Amino acid sequence: MKKILIINSSKRKNGNSYALEKRFAELLNGKAEVTTFRIGEKDVRPCLACDGCKRQHDPNCVQKDDFTALIPEIDSCDAMLILAPVHWDQFPAQLKAFLDRTYSFMDFTQPDFSMAGRKDKKLAGYFFAGFGPVDVYTNMVETNLKSFATAGFVDYKAHVAGDANAPGSIMSKTEDLKVADDFAEWLLA
Ligand SMILES: Cc1cc2nc3c(=O)[nH]c(=O)nc-3n(C[C@H](O)[C@H](O)[C@H](O)COP(=O)(O)O)c2cc1C
Repeated sequence: MKKILIINSSKRKNGNSYALEKRFAELLNGKAEVTTFRIGEKDVRPCLACDGCKRQHDPNCVQKDDFTALIPEIDSCDAMLILAPVHWDQFPAQLKAFLDRTYSFMDFTQPDFSMAGRKDKKLAGYFFAGFGPVDVYTNMVETNLKSFATAGFVDYKAHVAGDANAPGSIMSKTEDLKVADDFAEWLLA
């Protein structure tokens, strides 16, 4: 059974990321081993840029917080799904901190700069925007998802659902829900 890690990066418990977290859990139920990590409820601090992780060749981070226990989960999963809002045209701060902490997978002694145990993983980024422009946000999300290659996520897909300001409004958007269904299938394949 595939191991799928869901990273929910929203603070709005009645919002769209939470609504799709529930939908994905239903879609994946019985078909994958799912671990859900809600950054908004966790303590994931910004990277200290101390380079402590560069003195070793296994992913680790000297800063001990809720990201620490997640490192082996990130390393051993088959796929990761990020659910997140767009904040000020960018990744929300809590997700940017999460991305920065994957610097702990970077190994300058390797040809591909990665000390990830697995480098064959899939990554889906499903984002929500109150307004848009959705095409610009999709480029922004794709650019950021590429940085997860250091942690072994080499294959990625991105989607941004626009006009999603109202909490839970995603559940009435048929086309965006179809993308979620396709993402679930792709993550399981
Ligand atoms: C701090 C903040 C900044 C935001 N910036 C943008 C933005 O730049 N563009 C946009 O379209 N929506 C923006 N929004 C709206 C959210 O992206 C939108 O409400 C989204 O659906 C929230 O997702 P969630 O329900 O999963 O939390 C912002 C919301 C907040 C709280």
